Amino acid sequence: MENWQLIATLEDIPPLGSRVLKTAQGDIALFRSADDQVFALHDKCPHKGGPLSQGIVFGHTVACPLHGWNINLEDGQAIAPDKGCAGKLITKIENGAVFLRT
Ligand code: FES
Repeated sequence: MENWQLIATLEDIPPLGSRVLKTAQGDIALFRSADDQVFALHDKCPHKGGPLSQGIVFGHTVACPLHGWNINLEDGQAIAPDKGCAGKLITKIENGAVFLRT
C-alpha cells in the first residue's frame, strides 16, 4: 500500500530553487522546476556528496555546486559522461500540496 506524507506546499519551494527536508534517513532536497513540477533527491551528489540543494536548476536537471556534475531530477542519475545516482524519491502535487511517498 502506498503511503503519502504531506511535506510542503508548492509555494514553499522557490521556482528554479529548492528546499531541504530533514528526515531520519538524511536530508532530502526538493526541487521545483520552471514548469512547477517537484522532484525529490537525496541531498548528496553521487560524485563526492555535494549538497545538490545548493545547485542550479535548469530544465529537469540540477548542476552540483561543487564540481558541476549535472544530475537528472527525474531519476537522480548523473548525466553522461558522469555516472552515479543521487537516489530519487517519489513525489506528487495535489492542489498545491506536495506529498512524498513513504
Ligand atoms: S560533489 Fe557534486 S560534482 Fe563533485
